[in-house]
Amino acid sequence: MKNIAVIGAGTMGNGIAHTFAQFGYKTNLIDKSEKTLEKGMEIIAGNLDRMVAKEKISEEDKKNTLKNITTFTQLSEGVKNVDLVVEAATENVDLKLSIFKQLDEFCAADTVLASNTSSISITKIAAAVSNPERVIGMHFMNPVPVMKLVEIIRGYSTSNEVTSQIMELSKKLKKEPVEVNDYPGFVANRILMPMINESIETLYNGVAGVQEIDTVMKLGMAHPMGPLQLADFIGLDVCLSILEVMYSGFKNPKYAACPLLVNMVQAGKLGVKSGEGFYDYSESRKAEKVSGQFTS
Ligand SMILES: NC(=O)c1ccc[n+]([C@@H]2O[C@H](COP(=O)([O-])OP(=O)(O)OC[C@H]3O[C@@H](n4cnc5c(N)ncnc54)[C@H](O)[C@@H]3O)[C@@H](O)[C@H]2O)c1
Repeated sequence: MKNIAVIGAGTMGNGIAHTFAQFGYKTNLIDKSEKTLEKGMEIIAGNLDRMVAKEKISEEDKKNTLKNITTFTQLSEGVKNVDLVVEAATENVDLKLSIFKQLDEFCAADTVLASNTSSISITKIAAAVSNPERVIGMHFMNPVPVMKLVEIIRGYSTSNEVTSQIMELSKKLKKEPVEVNDYPGFVANRILMPMINESIETLYNGVAGVQEIDTVMKLGMAHPMGPLQLADFIGLDVCLSILEVMYSGFKNPKYAACPLLVNMVQAGKLGVKSGEGFYDYSESRKAEKVSGQFTS
């Protein structure tokens, strides 16, 4: 595999494109608008600058990485002649099904089609294409250039050949791939999201404030960041959609999203990407705790 297309230039898509390009893959980055692509490329350049400053890569590596990325707004153009597509568009089942229908039309029959979905069934996504054995989950973690894990999700029809190709490819990106089966939330989010939801419930019930909850989990459980801050990094809208998929998939009330999470998403407080979530990320008040307004 040499030529890769990444669909979506948001939080995950720009990190995935950055990673493939840094390891020498020709990478087409596709999004709906020029503006989003420009923002995605700025983020990649900024992250590369940080890596150069920390002497993790050279100035030359940075230049080559940027040279390996080409941006597209037309999906049909961006996926032409690629060996692998990694879809990292918004977490919405209808959107993903429509993207995979288009991939079925525009990609060669042997192009491997991966989704970075956090929770949507790979089997369901695969049903949108005529040969579902080439569809697989490639679940990178945020921030992609830094995090080691890739959860590799086998759908009901995913072939052994495609699974081993993707496991090998992940190792070439210096990641640790872990193979799991296709059930709601897979492994990572099935365990993580109930913890995040419970921490929001704890805030909602007025048991403790944002800082206190995060401090308990950081200092008491040796987590590198508290669950509320982690939710801000993931995106509160993403957390909500994952919980909704698990709630409907398992028909179990333990996955019902806390009303505070629903309210915050409706208010557009999505975490880092919108400038405010449980913490304030505006330039003037970077990562300050948002005052007690969210406790019940
Ligand atoms: N945020 C995380 O920590 C995280 C971690 C692992 C996996 N994921 C998954 O990665 C995927 C992307 O999440 P994100 O956090 O990057 O979301 P995001 O909102 O930051 O970015 C999504 C991008 O998709 C683009 N998009 C929407 N429709 C499109 C289309 N038809 N064609 C091309 N681009 C389109 C949007 O313009 C946007 O730039 C989701 O499936 C999510 O569940 C997220």
